[in-house]
Amino acid sequence: MKIPDFQRAKREGKKIVVVTGYDALFARIIEQAGIEVILVGDSLGVVVQGKHDTLTVTMEDMLYHTRMVAGAAERALVVADMPFLSYQVSNEEAVRNAGRLIQAGAAAVKLEGGANVVERVQAMTSFGIPVMGHVGMTPQSVRSYGGYKVQGKGAEQANRLVEDAKALQEAGAFAVVLEAMPSELAARITHELAIPTIGIGAGASCDGQVLVLYDLLGLFDAFVPKFVKPYAHLKTDALRALKQYKEEVEQGRFPTDQESYH
Ligand code: KIV
Ligand code: NA
Repeated sequence: MKIPDFQRAKREGKKIVVVTGYDALFARIIEQAGIEVILVGDSLGVVVQGKHDTLTVTMEDMLYHTRMVAGAAERALVVADMPFLSYQVSNEEAVRNAGRLIQAGAAAVKLEGGANVVERVQAMTSFGIPVMGHVGMTPQSVRSYGGYKVQGKGAEQANRLVEDAKALQEAGAFAVVLEAMPSELAARITHELAIPTIGIGAGASCDGQVLVLYDLLGLFDAFVPKFVKPYAHLKTDALRALKQYKEEVEQGRFPTDQESYH
């Protein structure tokens, strides 16, 4: 998967499948599953670092995880999230930080926002850094929302999100994530844009979908939004395995001769 393939996928009506990944081990499993786009999401602040939100994730964190994922991915396109405060302050900081993520192995970066980040997106794309947009419920703005709430309800908010998505396209974004918004609105944005939309909690009309890896594997259950479908229950599996290991060690049933050297 390369950046121009996103446009082609939309034109040909081929759904774009994206999943988040944070380390080399899962990057390889994701690739073996045939998934072609891996997002190193700043959701790692929640699912890997155990924080309540993504606001404390640093550039160093993103660089570390991007290096691991990009180092392992052989075919998949790696997109790295720009963390909070890495692009808000100025175009200069945004370009420098985006460039560092590219140097770490990402093929593209993603940032949150609409009209307010247009200048940033223009600056980055003018230097050949591909940018994915992200509108709707943008987690780095959780403080102003007062919680993770569906966005784009009501005509005024909806129109603003349509304008935001269009502004990102005009600024040169190659795709845009639509998060937690009414399906009807996501369908309208998808129809009005030439670049593909990647939905999460935005219904079936989007040109592609993205999910957080640990949500879809059923590993992360501290908070499960309505839009998550657990395709596996790995936490249940992990718990069962760990409990059995503990029991067998305590009872002297592990290791057996089978796991021993002579
Ligand atoms: O950080 C993340 O995982 C994301 C996706 C959920 C879109 O931004
Ligand atoms: Na993110």
